[in-house]
Amino acid sequence: MNEDSQAQTIEDGDGVSRLGFIKVAVGGMCLAYASAVGYPVYKYLNSPVAREAALGAITDVSLAGADKLPLGGVLLFKFGPFPSMLIHHKDDSWIAFDAVCTHLGCTVQYHPELDKIVCACHGGTYDAHTGANISGPPPKPLSKFNVKVLAGSVKVTRA
Ligand code: FES
Repeated sequence: MNEDSQAQTIEDGDGVSRLGFIKVAVGGMCLAYASAVGYPVYKYLNSPVAREAALGAITDVSLAGADKLPLGGVLLFKFGPFPSMLIHHKDDSWIAFDAVCTHLGCTVQYHPELDKIVCACHGGTYDAHTGANISGPPPKPLSKFNVKVLAGSVKVTRA
C-alpha cells in the first residue's frame, strides 16, 4: 500500500478524514453522556425541596472577623452547601443573601460600582439592599438572611 492509497482510505471525497469524524462523534457522545448524568444531579441539587432540606439543617453561620469588612465590601461564604454573600453597604447597613440566582441557579455577584447584584449567566439583576429581582429573567427575589454584627464576628441566621 503506497502513501496515496493510504490517504484515500482515511479521507472521503470531501476531504474530511474518517479519523476526524470519529473523534467528533466520540466527543459528541461523551458530551451527551456527561449531560445525561450531570443534568439530573444539577436539577436535584437545585430543586426547591432539596434546597429547603439542606438549608433547614443549618440555622446560622458565624463569620469570624467579618465585622471588619470595610464599607462597600462583600464577603462570600457558604450557608450550608450554598454560596451566600454578606454586604457591608456604604451607609453602614449590613445585609446577607443567598447568592444562588432564582432563575437557573448560577452564583450571583455583588457589583459595588453599580450597587447591584448581578447574575452573569443571563444578565439578571437584583437590588443589593433588598434582594428584589429588578431586571432580566430571575422570577423572584434572593432569599435574605438576618445579620447580627458582634465584636469579632458576624452572625448570619435564617430569616
Ligand atoms: S441563572 Fe441567573 S439570570 Fe439566569
